[in-house]
Amino acid sequence: MRTYLNFDWQFAKNSDFTNSQVVNIPHSNCILPISYASELDYQFVSYYRNTFNVEAISNVLLTFTAVAHKANVYVNGKFVGTHNCGYTAFTFNITNYVAIGQNLVTVEVDSRENLNFAPFGNVIDYLTYGGMYGEVYLDELNEYYIEDVFVNGYATSSPFNFNAEITLNKYCSKLSLLCRVIEKEEVKLNYLEQVKEKVSVIFAKLDEAKLWDVDNPNLYQLSVELLLDGKVIDSKNLSFGFRDCKFTKEGFFLNGKKIKLRGLNRHQSYAYVGYAMPKRAQEQDAKFLKEELCVNIVRTSHYPQSQYFLDECDRLGLLVFTEIPGWQHIGDKQWQAQSINHVKEMVMQYRNHPSIICYGVRINESFDEDEFYSQTNKVARELDCSRQTAGVRYIANSSDLEDIYSYNDFVFKGDNSPVRKKSKVYSGAKPMLITEFNGHMYPTKSYDNEKHRVEHANRHYKVIKAYYYAKHLAGGIGWCMSDYNTHKQFGSGDGICHHGVADIFRNAKLAGAVYASFGKKPRLEVSSSMDKGEWERGYLDKVYAYTNADSVKLYLNNQFVKEFFAQKDDNMTGKAIVIDDFIGNLIQNNEKFSLSSSNATKKCINYALSHGDSSFPPIILLKMLFVKLREKVSFKKLFEIGQKYATGWGSDSASYKFEAIKDGEVVQTVIKEPVTTVDLAIDVNATTLVHGQTYDVANIRFRAVDQNNNTLPYCFEPLTLKTQGSIELIGDSVVTLLGGMSGTYLKTTSKGNGKLIINAFDKTYTLDFNIE
Ligand code: GAL
Repeated sequence: MRTYLNFDWQFAKNSDFTNSQVVNIPHSNCILPISYASELDYQFVSYYRNTFNVEAISNVLLTFTAVAHKANVYVNGKFVGTHNCGYTAFTFNITNYVAIGQNLVTVEVDSRENLNFAPFGNVIDYLTYGGMYGEVYLDELNEYYIEDVFVNGYATSSPFNFNAEITLNKYCSKLSLLCRVIEKEEVKLNYLEQVKEKVSVIFAKLDEAKLWDVDNPNLYQLSVELLLDGKVIDSKNLSFGFRDCKFTKEGFFLNGKKIKLRGLNRHQSYAYVGYAMPKRAQEQDAKFLKEELCVNIVRTSHYPQSQYFLDECDRLGLLVFTEIPGWQHIGDKQWQAQSINHVKEMVMQYRNHPSIICYGVRINESFDEDEFYSQTNKVARELDCSRQTAGVRYIANSSDLEDIYSYNDFVFKGDNSPVRKKSKVYSGAKPMLITEFNGHMYPTKSYDNEKHRVEHANRHYKVIKAYYYAKHLAGGIGWCMSDYNTHKQFGSGDGICHHGVADIFRNAKLAGAVYASFGKKPRLEVSSSMDKGEWERGYLDKVYAYTNADSVKLYLNNQFVKEFFAQKDDNMTGKAIVIDDFIGNLIQNNEKFSLSSSNATKKCINYALSHGDSSFPPIILLKMLFVKLREKVSFKKLFEIGQKYATGWGSDSASYKFEAIKDGEVVQTVIKEPVTTVDLAIDVNATTLVHGQTYDVANIRFRAVDQNNNTLPYCFEPLTLKTQGSIELIGDSVVTLLGGMSGTYLKTTSKGNGKLIINAFDKTYTLDFNIE
């Protein structure tokens, strides 16, 4: 029997629990401001305690899914054990510490960054937070129970091999195991086996099964029942997928099919509460990556992440590169021994996820330490021979101990070759994968000017294109999904690394549109607001359409200007179509000019706009003269025509329409014109929440939008937020739009109804919640 112990913990900064607060898990030991947060605020020792009931004392197991970072656990005042990792789960068998009836658990949580295990020991480019941020549960089990199930479905075609390794707490000859493979409630395989030793290995074959892949993430359930004299005494259920994945030097293959990996790195941190977010918020990040940013892989930089996030990756078909905690620093032998243990915990706890395709067994960007890394590789391979190892490095040709040569490539400065040549990185023959790029090379705030945001987006696009066409690369994983709070040695002085393709609330920036354009749904994002004040001299030379369409048609004030196509060498789904002619045939059509006059006039207009003065060189004056004579118009008239078609300073306000064309059809339209109304677009991931195993959280994102649903990047208005009923805000009640975007989180306080009232732009918006 499993009981969750997530509610009503006493939390205090001292062991005698004076001034304690009642808190629920996931819990962060402090609430941080979004900007200018200090890493000193969460670095202290805190104490959590709670009571729990025990009904029978055969085997009582207590599991903590995440405590940042060192946990000393006491039951009924007696020390039970220590756990040294803020990212992996740990279980203690507390049978000898409990009595039937009420018991007390106390956890001393050390969240200081001077601990002698990863990621600590040197500077770190992310906050490490503190508190008991993962759920806690109690299992009351019989004398015999299932300790672990490791399941693997590997196949590319029939027969579908199925392999489960079931470990019991101890052996008894009267035990048997009943395994069932279930597909959507239909039992596909029924397998009864007499237990012969502590570990049973079951091999079976299915003639028919659906493969798990990125487009059809078919999952099967495995139910394992432990029987004693024919009676079920324990059971475990989990999901798995039939799939075969392999990195080769030709690239990454899933079920025999080559997939270019296109991904982003994720920190599992959130505004205000750091790591302390429950299930729905974790799942939401996987959805954000897969459904909004349309990536096919995520790297869980730089530590194992919430099982809820991984479960959702399994369900969505989002591939995962998971890795051990650490950042650039390798400590002493004791530190290394802990890290080897982290590898063990990571593999043991995550190896059932079909989404995981490799294990990162090096400390991110560390020096070679062959003895240590030979061990980390060995441990990972011993515990799961079905997956390859990788390790993220930044030193070229570093020791080749892993199965995949993965490395961070921060070579791109905007105008050079976007990725390093193979010869500059690695001389071996193993598969290669870029695990980070961009990031600190071009930090970009949602409220940076348009030129900066466009450059950010284009740099992502250019690196994607470079790795897409590089035969030796299995793909690339960009830095990073969203902005994150960091230590003072990093970031923009505001405690934030603005490296995300989305802001801290997961509002996609323009660079997010580059990734989204690789998705299946029709997609068009235009890089400019078409407002003259954004461009030097008021001159717009180029706009990018991030799209998966074939072409983009431009209209000015509803008159067709021109159709634009992707570059010939661009076979990627996501394209950056360059739009660089905003006059097209308009002069020829409207003014009845000849083609040559029209082209000459365009040249004059573009010259005037790009140079910003009217002292024309002889060649332009000659063109003007040519048009004047050919079309029989005065210079004054010519000047008026110029103004009419120029997108430059002081020209009439214009309405630009962009149509994305796919297979001859208009699949999406974007309109950019002067703003007439400002409204608040509210996106909420769920209005029916579940206050059950623990509290629930709804993610809410805000965007200021114009009448055409374009985000208004210079809208910095405040929003005031109020809640009623069974929900409360996590974070501030006044939030400011930054770059036209912001967000908040709402947590449930009980079952019932709740309301969020938002005041913005002299309007009131309400959201109703139903909490089950
Ligand atoms: C990398 C590092 C990341 C992040 C990134 C910023 O070197 O691995 O954690 O700091 O730089 O670009």
